[in-house]
Amino acid sequence: MQNVRLGIVGLGNMGKAHLHNIRAGKVPGLRVTALCESVGTLPELLEGEHPFTDVSQMIHSGRIDAILICTPHFSHTTIGIEALQNGLHVLVEKPISVHKADCERLIAAHTDKSKVFAAMFNMRTNATFKKVKDLIDSGELGEVRRVHWEVTNWFRTNYYYATGGWRGTWKGEGGGVLMNQCPHNLDLFQWMFGMPKSVRGFCQFGRYHQVEVEDNVTAFMAWENGATATFVTSTGEAPGANRLEIAAEQGRLTVTDGTKIHFQRNRQPMSKFCMEAEAAFAMPESWSMEIPVEQSGGQHVEILQNFTNAILKGEKLLSPAEQGICSVELANAILLSTWQDKTIELPMSSADYERILIEKGETSTFQKTKVVAKASADDFARSFR
Ligand SMILES: NC(=O)c1ccc[n+]([C@@H]2O[C@H](COP(=O)([O-])OP(=O)(O)OC[C@H]3O[C@@H](n4cnc5c(N)ncnc54)[C@H](O)[C@@H]3O)[C@@H](O)[C@H]2O)c1
Repeated sequence: MQNVRLGIVGLGNMGKAHLHNIRAGKVPGLRVTALCESVGTLPELLEGEHPFTDVSQMIHSGRIDAILICTPHFSHTTIGIEALQNGLHVLVEKPISVHKADCERLIAAHTDKSKVFAAMFNMRTNATFKKVKDLIDSGELGEVRRVHWEVTNWFRTNYYYATGGWRGTWKGEGGGVLMNQCPHNLDLFQWMFGMPKSVRGFCQFGRYHQVEVEDNVTAFMAWENGATATFVTSTGEAPGANRLEIAAEQGRLTVTDGTKIHFQRNRQPMSKFCMEAEAAFAMPESWSMEIPVEQSGGQHVEILQNFTNAILKGEKLLSPAEQGICSVELANAILLSTWQDKTIELPMSSADYERILIEKGETSTFQKTKVVAKASADDFARSFR
């Protein structure tokens, strides 16, 4: 195979952005041969691709080798399973599914390992976070003791929720900031620090917007080795911040705005110094440094290229879809903990969570204020990280 023939399903904000990048020739080896959209917006988008309004027909058409799933979250599972079971390579937008039980079903459908199955965790290409992971994995930071990540720069207006029919509802989106914006951060979080053993969540629902889901969140997490973390997020705070702080044996690392890394390095590991010093108010000697990061990473295009190269050349995946269950489980656990007012031990029960979430969707009496969208795709492109 010289070129991967790709079908994109869901030509809303993200599907169009991917289409634009591929058509612009930014992903050598990848060619869009089919488009599938369930509302009648396809005719003005087509430039020779085969149009479909039914995704099953596109999957069975023989016109594509791979599918890029850019539909609302719940349908990632059903479309992904059908595509995998019918021999397609699959790249699924984040989150891979809305809840852990659906993730398990989707992952179980990936039986033919010759097919590539990846997730669009484009922030894994961010050079800053790659450097932080490298510093942790290489032992440069020493054992991580405490993490604080405030990621409140996901500001969204009420208009954003009001004009996106499926957004901001349990039935449509299956969650709020944790399910839509934070899959990126929660994925990086587990990628850098691993999965905690327990989660305690404090979510506020419709705190800043006319939504029924969470738009303001504080969570506490703990690991087997006693390390702890707080994770704070919101779509209602402006100006927000993105600040990650890591207290580790070898010092304190701060990442600001996802671009700048500051490291205050201890000369001796802090616990060793604590136990061995013979003065009551002594502090370990430390040195401050800025850690240079040379480029910002290829984001969505890099993930598309990696997916293509994995199919054509067997390149190792940057974001295997199987790993997408972790960010979903963290988001689910934070919500479940809030609803049940208790700490959730991980791994959590996927069946219990699924039952509660579906019930919330089915019994909801929430009505959105109806607003007709005026914003264009350019508005999305400008706001889009
Ligand atoms: N990776 C990123 O940075 C990023 C950014 C934004 C959105 N996303 C993800 O992309 C996905 C889509 O988000 P969006 O903002 O583009 O949503 P959107 O509402 O703008 O677009 C979704 C489109 O899918 C279509 N659709 C729904 N069901 C369909 C079906 N069965 N068959 C064909 N078309 C169908 C809808 O008509 C709509 O046009 C979500 O999972 C979201 O989390 C990822």
